[in-house]
Amino acid sequence: MSEIPTPAVDPGLLAEVRELVAAARRPVVLSGAGMSAESGIPTFRDAQTGLWERFSAEQLATEEAFLADPKLVWSWYRWRARMVRARQPNPGHEAVARWQQRLDSVPDDGSSPEAGGAPGLVVATQNVDDLHERAGTRVLSHLHGSLFEFRCVLCSTPADVDLGELDQGVEAGSEEDLEAQRLHTPPRCEVCGEGRLRPGIVWFGEMLPPAAWDRAYDALERCDLCVVVGTSGLVQPAASLPLVALGAGAPVVEVNPDQTELTDAVTHVLRGTAGQVLPALVD
Ligand SMILES: NC(=O)c1ccc[n+]([C@@H]2O[C@H](COP(=O)([O-])OP(=O)(O)OC[C@H]3O[C@@H](n4cnc5c(N)ncnc54)[C@H](O)[C@@H]3O)[C@@H](O)[C@H]2O)c1
Ligand SMILES: [Zn+2]
Repeated sequence: MSEIPTPAVDPGLLAEVRELVAAARRPVVLSGAGMSAESGIPTFRDAQTGLWERFSAEQLATEEAFLADPKLVWSWYRWRARMVRARQPNPGHEAVARWQQRLDSVPDDGSSPEAGGAPGLVVATQNVDDLHERAGTRVLSHLHGSLFEFRCVLCSTPADVDLGELDQGVEAGSEEDLEAQRLHTPPRCEVCGEGRLRPGIVWFGEMLPPAAWDRAYDALERCDLCVVVGTSGLVQPAASLPLVALGAGAPVVEVNPDQTELTDAVTHVLRGTAGQVLPALVD
């Protein structure tokens, strides 16, 4: 949960970015873990709780880790998915949804694909949660996969997994639920009968889903505004996407309470949280 004190956003700068938002026909929103912080989903680098405290990301978020201790990795992702399921979109997610709906109703002036194509807001996210979708937004690319998709570690066949209900009196995301999930073993794949199911997350050392990457890249090459929300800009290659928008000549706005790796590269910096700044930009 993010309790970062937010410096007041400069009103002149806010007004300037509001104009960019109002004029944009093909904006792209790139979101990271900070987008969901105000929904109560800790970011990667927030105060580390639960298993993050006891295990490094490398011990949980690699295929080697999964093969070495499938039960540990499985239970951790199960616990996380159960936590996210209990959280709700915040005013930032809702503002993005309204912005997309607004552009959906702008008539297509028939511009050629080279000229950018039809108007519309694109969202590409590093988040593995589904809070954009639950706010009513169509997400073009989940660059790092999803907590709610599973596939066989051997034959890659997708499979559904029942995440189960919470025990009475147990809170989603609690240490108690984490302990309870540790009794679970990843199920066997029903297709090949050999492999176990793994979460559909992009782990360290793995390639991003090529179609999701290509769609995001294309949208950034054609965008007229890029808003980067809640990402530290440390995880590559996702962190390079704002540079594609800059290369296309589009203004790039960073929304983040803190300085990031991207701050020096972007054209506008709004120091604030997603839940505060995005509604102020869109409404
Ligand atoms: N919700 C999720 O799906 C989730 C959560 C944690 C980590 N992850 C994964 O971990 C990796 C981490 O990279 P990352 O750059 O997305 O996250 P990160 O944890 O590296 O950085 C989070 C960024 O969000 C900012 N932030 C914190 N609170 C904010 C708020 N209320 N509003 C706006 N910004 C805020 C921080 O200053 C920081 O720059 C990604 O691969 C992501 O897939 C996903
Ligand atoms: Zn299989």
